[in-house]
Amino acid sequence: SPYARIEGIGAAIPSRVVDNEEMCTYIDSSDEWIQQRTGIVERRWVAEGETVETLSLDAARQAIERAGLTAADIDAVIISTVSHLVQTPSLAAVVAAKLGCSDAAAFDISAACAGFCYGVGMAESLVRSGAATHVLAIGAETLSEMTDLSDRSTAFLFADGAGAAVVGPSDVPTMGPLVWGSDGDQAEVIEMDRSWPEAVATGETSHITMDGRPVFRWATTFIADAASRTLAAAGLAPEDLDLFVPHQANNRITDAMLRTLKLPDTVKVARTIVNFGNNSAASIGIALNSMIESGEARSGDTCLMIGFGAGLVYAGQVITI
Ligand code: ACO
Repeated sequence: SPYARIEGIGAAIPSRVVDNEEMCTYIDSSDEWIQQRTGIVERRWVAEGETVETLSLDAARQAIERAGLTAADIDAVIISTVSHLVQTPSLAAVVAAKLGCSDAAAFDISAACAGFCYGVGMAESLVRSGAATHVLAIGAETLSEMTDLSDRSTAFLFADGAGAAVVGPSDVPTMGPLVWGSDGDQAEVIEMDRSWPEAVATGETSHITMDGRPVFRWATTFIADAASRTLAAAGLAPEDLDLFVPHQANNRITDAMLRTLKLPDTVKVARTIVNFGNNSAASIGIALNSMIESGEARSGDTCLMIGFGAGLVYAGQVITI
């Protein structure tokens, strides 16, 4: 087949609910401040027994089943994550084996909060090139393990979870061009504060640090424009869309993008950050899954998704779900 399509979507939500009241026992903040600045009411963190691997497996099994496939049909597995804290083997190789995707190609991608879109875009390319037939693209994070709970500029934002999509062949076009890029000149605005060897040497752990203002500025200007360019690259106008699913970084960023995009009220907008927090590479898969399960999104809907985050990196694409 010359084209690719989304065959199934799945998600895994960790079981531990951390509300803003609990958050305020870690940092000097308030429920009102967190809601006003981000929209977050509560976030999910992994509980005992839940890991980036178990979340990946759960999201993947759901996506494969909804695609009407079995694990043996998957011939490539991609996991986008920054939470798999060993260099090798890749999380994808381990997860592929546990799923039963025997002899599938497997590799991880490091694209932070753009991870889901990088993974799906890569999956589409592999299917279209003939390198693979059914590709499983997972975005999975346990950012709670990399967050400094005493840091009031990050602790309230970050969360855990996994989203997954199976991408397979199609006779008709269902996915627009990938609009993506990076700006490593802004690498330091979201970064790990030390390498793991440094952490070992100092007896510390490595945490994510963020300078929120430049991230906010970049997201509300350059990324909002990238979202517009993604729509135009697909040859679509705002009224052609059914769904807008940006990375769930923070509701004020989503609001700013909506002002740039000028989407009609009929377009449904993802707001899963309110209950699940910012779970990085997992956020778009989780949002799509939630909107499908609630009936807000339907099979055949046209969706603009855009991921953006540490690197800085971004990727946008219009997909039919
Ligand atoms: N609770 C209460 N008050 C706080 C907190 C807190 N946690 N943190 C800061 N404040 C106070 C400050 O002390 C300051 O008070 P002052 O005006 O009296 O000096 C005031 O709030 C404003 O502080 P800023 O740091 O300027 O806060 P800002 O308005 O920039 O909001 C935020 C912070 C929400 C992080 C914002 O910068 C933002 O949304 N940035 C984008 C971050 C983002 O979305 N990152 C995710 C994308 S990348 C990824 O997903 C990995």
